[in-house]
Amino acid sequence: MLLTLIRRYSKPYMPYIVAVVVFQLASTIAALYLPSLNAQIIDEGVSRGDTDFIWRTGSVMLLVAIVQVGTAIAGVYYGSKTAMAVGRDLRRGVFRKVTSFSAKDVNRFGAPTLITRGTNDVQQVQMLVLMGLNFMVATPIMCIGGIIMALREDISLSWLVWVSVPVLFVVVGYLVVRLMPLFRSMQKKIDRINAVLREQIIGIRVVRAFVREPYETDRFGVANKDLTDVSLKIGALFVLMFPAIGMILHLSTAAVLWFGGQRVDSGEMQVGSLTAFLQYLLQILMAVMMGTFMAMMIPRASVCGDRIGEVLDVEPSIHDPERPETPATVAGVVEYRNVTFAYPGAETPVLSNVSFTARPGETVAIIGSTGAGKTSLLALLPRLYDIAEGEVLLDGVSVSNLDRAEITKRVALVPQRPYLFSGTIEHNLRFGKTEATDQELWDALQIAQGGDFVREKKNGLNARIAQGGTNVSGGQRQRLCIARALITKPKVYLFDDSFSALDVATDARLRAALKQTTADATVIIVAQRISTITDADQILVLDNGRIVDRGTHEELLETSPTYQEIVESQLSVEEMA
Ligand code: CTP
Ligand code: MG
Repeated sequence: MLLTLIRRYSKPYMPYIVAVVVFQLASTIAALYLPSLNAQIIDEGVSRGDTDFIWRTGSVMLLVAIVQVGTAIAGVYYGSKTAMAVGRDLRRGVFRKVTSFSAKDVNRFGAPTLITRGTNDVQQVQMLVLMGLNFMVATPIMCIGGIIMALREDISLSWLVWVSVPVLFVVVGYLVVRLMPLFRSMQKKIDRINAVLREQIIGIRVVRAFVREPYETDRFGVANKDLTDVSLKIGALFVLMFPAIGMILHLSTAAVLWFGGQRVDSGEMQVGSLTAFLQYLLQILMAVMMGTFMAMMIPRASVCGDRIGEVLDVEPSIHDPERPETPATVAGVVEYRNVTFAYPGAETPVLSNVSFTARPGETVAIIGSTGAGKTSLLALLPRLYDIAEGEVLLDGVSVSNLDRAEITKRVALVPQRPYLFSGTIEHNLRFGKTEATDQELWDALQIAQGGDFVREKKNGLNARIAQGGTNVSGGQRQRLCIARALITKPKVYLFDDSFSALDVATDARLRAALKQTTADATVIIVAQRISTITDADQILVLDNGRIVDRGTHEELLETSPTYQEIVESQLSVEEMA
């Protein structure tokens, strides 16, 4: 999974990767050459007092050193460029995919983990690519080349290489094996922290209102402690790792000096060879260490790669039809034909056998107790969910055979939970129609009864809106959402309890103004207050997902016991007031 991902996303950067390989190769070979030049200077130049030789070899050495540094820099530069580009593309891939998700697909994962996957997980993969590009070429060459060069300097000290390299390998390997499961669990704990934090920030008002801070603090505390514990365990292993590596390096140095020193004493080896041998050994050990470090990153990054891949592999459950149909007319006729719908994973349907028609110029109202399925019913027209049985038709064509762009062109939904995006009022209003003129915005606001409060704001249309629209009142948020829908000038308006946060007088004014604008459009209103819907052409009484009664206000008052109940309950409330 990780490999497929990397291969797919690094393909456009092949030239960079080739550059990295070439530069790394050059810099490694140069690095391997340096100690042997150094040895030549000491053994052949200094010991013979040959200044000429020292100068000549010295300048070669300087040149090699410059090449080594230059190519190393270039290698790291292109490596970083590639890794960052891969990270950027992966993030973009996850983002694009998630935007194409239906509500069902998002629920399958949950928002927090989608966020972690698009950020932290991508970063882990990006890190591996970076390390991989920086060390992939250098490490094996350094290791093998170092051994060859060391043996060339002095073959009888070679046993030091055969002892120290495996010891280092075993020690670092042991620590890495212990670290791997910890890293894996760390990723889960980060998910958990994100989930808890997100929920608490979004629900902060509720937490305050119910004085749940201590409980929530505890809940976060537990998640936080979990993460801390894992991090501490990782830290403890790292604390062991560095002294262990240091000790192996120092012991190896001491051993080289001790045994090499004896050979120098007895004249079997020259001082320059000894220093070169020592440098090679250290280079080899460093390479082994880097290699093991990298090996350590692979499991963690591959867990992350799998998690990212899971998201990228999802085939969105709702997508545009392959051969979309185009309705003959753009009128806005809505027809539900024997619609039965159940939420994914639910056993019982929330809507059963719902049929009705709403024509242009008509207002159809839906009323029913909470949980009756009103919101679910509206969600089927813009195809937020696919239905199990029956058909939802728009201008005579089933919505599943329409391009979703075609649907949004005709249908505007004002959702029950009005949502605004961070930005300005203007930016939110233009959401459905970017080219709308200022006059159009003000007109829509006027109809939605939001003109006054926007005018009162210091910056007017440019007033800031916080994420989710939390810095305006519930009623203001509703009015802005209504205005946003009006601006698109759709054929079909869906108002889901969109007047609930308005006082009765504003509600009446808004509906009077709406009536003119929506005169030729199809309007479907979900409402709680009977007064909102008395003049509707058709009222559907929804109970438990079924339409139990239908008719006008007057008809229902006579025939529908359920409707009468609702009316009575509201009358008594009004009388009490
Ligand atoms: N439901 C669900 N999953 C969702 C939304 C709703 O399972 N994502 C179920 C709930 O159990 C609910 C039923 O669908 O009982 C109907 O929900 P909804 O259509 O939202 O009810 P409304 O009639 O809109 O209720 P309200 O008046 O409270 O808005
Ligand atoms: Mg609802």
